[in-house]
Amino acid sequence: LEPLLRRFEEALSELVQSEVLFIRLIHQDLVTAGGKRIRPRLVFLASRALGGAPFELELALAVELLHSATLLHDDLIDEAETRRGKEAAFRKYGNAVSVLSGDFLLSRLLHVIAKMGRMELVERFAQVAKTLSEGEVLQFQVAALEDYSLENYERIITAKTAVLMALATEGPALLLGAESGVREALYRFGLLYGQAFQMRDDYLDLMGTPEALGKPVGGDLREGKATLIPLLLMERYPEVREILRRRGREPGDLERLKSLARESGVAEEVEARIRKRAEEAVAALRPLPPSPFKAALEELALREAERLS
Ligand code: IPE
Ligand code: IPE
Ligand code: MG
Ligand code: MG
Repeated sequence: LEPLLRRFEEALSELVQSEVLFIRLIHQDLVTAGGKRIRPRLVFLASRALGGAPFELELALAVELLHSATLLHDDLIDEAETRRGKEAAFRKYGNAVSVLSGDFLLSRLLHVIAKMGRMELVERFAQVAKTLSEGEVLQFQVAALEDYSLENYERIITAKTAVLMALATEGPALLLGAESGVREALYRFGLLYGQAFQMRDDYLDLMGTPEALGKPVGGDLREGKATLIPLLLMERYPEVREILRRRGREPGDLERLKSLARESGVAEEVEARIRKRAEEAVAALRPLPPSPFKAALEELALREAERLS
């Protein structure tokens, strides 16, 4: 994939050019700060597993643009200090510039989708953007109403993260007009992988380190987001509900959650759930013919079972 990813970086740099200095500065970070580029990778791997889809570069750009725009907005909402190891954009340039630069990225997204000239893809992106916004709002609604449940957790991770991953993997099949079995397999893979990915991200927000992640930890607790670990702990320890209610504001709250997670075996249980979800993603790929690209997709999914950064 290396040549494809290099072309992707060049095209992305070009897309975010602007005569406005502040826009250029914000997007320089986007291009140089080293995001993992998982979504473009998903596009290219899915495309190549099917023998190569038209407009794969545009599709990869479109999903990464949507992702990057959400991160600019997300960091402001989450008041996160760092992103990709650097100071978050809103802290350097202010809230207004950060939000508007996110909108700038969305305008570039429209440009790229228009270039594909495929109404089906336009509709998919519109649907995903809607679901993504709903997922982000639902997350705050659940925290505000303390409407904590596994069901709501699944809805949130699916909406805010997994549907975009599913579009990344299903997109090449759509562009190729692949048969429905193959298209559905890739959609399911992206969805299950995306869920495992967000479950791991949430796990690391509690159990990981800011150094390894390049972004702060403990943010979910500060916003009363009951991710999988606190959700499962809550069933056994009523104090966890209290910790969430006060948004982890008392000294030692975060540490308490972590040690409860370790001692109770809940941390391990969550790891097992992530592994299971990743294995389901791998199983979903069965209808695809064997290829190094399919194998790389499987490997990517199974990495969620142990990822620490
Ligand atoms: C962060 O996504 C947002 C989530 C969906 C958890 P990534 O972890 O893919 O972010 P980058 O692009 O590598 O920075
Ligand atoms: C993912 O959720 C946000 C989006 C999909 C926009 P998080 O809030 O957990 O993402 P990070 O942890 O800040 O990267
Ligand atoms: Mg966040
Ligand atoms: Mg997170």
